[in-house]
Amino acid sequence: MGMIALLVGALAAEPAPLELGQSIYAAKCATCHGSTGKGDGPAARALPQPPANFSDPEYWKRTDEAMVRGVIETGKPGTVMRGFPMKPDRLDALVLYLRSFAETP
Ligand code: HEC
Repeated sequence: MGMIALLVGALAAEPAPLELGQSIYAAKCATCHGSTGKGDGPAARALPQPPANFSDPEYWKRTDEAMVRGVIETGKPGTVMRGFPMKPDRLDALVLYLRSFAETP
């Protein structure tokens, strides 16, 4: 009994990766990349180069995930995209969430 309660408590404390990714994205990325990943966030209008469309499956076909991770960690030179260094598990969750924009429900 007590063990189960402990286990449930531990699971509740640790958000699922997709939820973790969503909360990081909402806090740090959505203003530019848009709440649905289309690159149409409120701040995107003022940008010289619009952010990529993460909801387009073609984007992921031509994109290397290592590049995506690198850009998130260190930024994209020549753009307003700065680096957002974070722990590997948070980066995993965020990339998982970015990819989920392109998944047809
Ligand atoms: C101030 C606006 C802004 C914020 C905030 C921002 N980005 Fe960007 N991001 C850009 C712009 C502009 C680019 C360059 C255009 C492009 O390549 O999409 C870019 C590029 C990228 C790229 C590379 C796209 C490519 O194919 O080269 C990734 C991946 C990315 N951003 C992810 C994120 C993530 C994840 C976050 C949150 C942790 C974030 N960005 C926060 C504006 C922003």
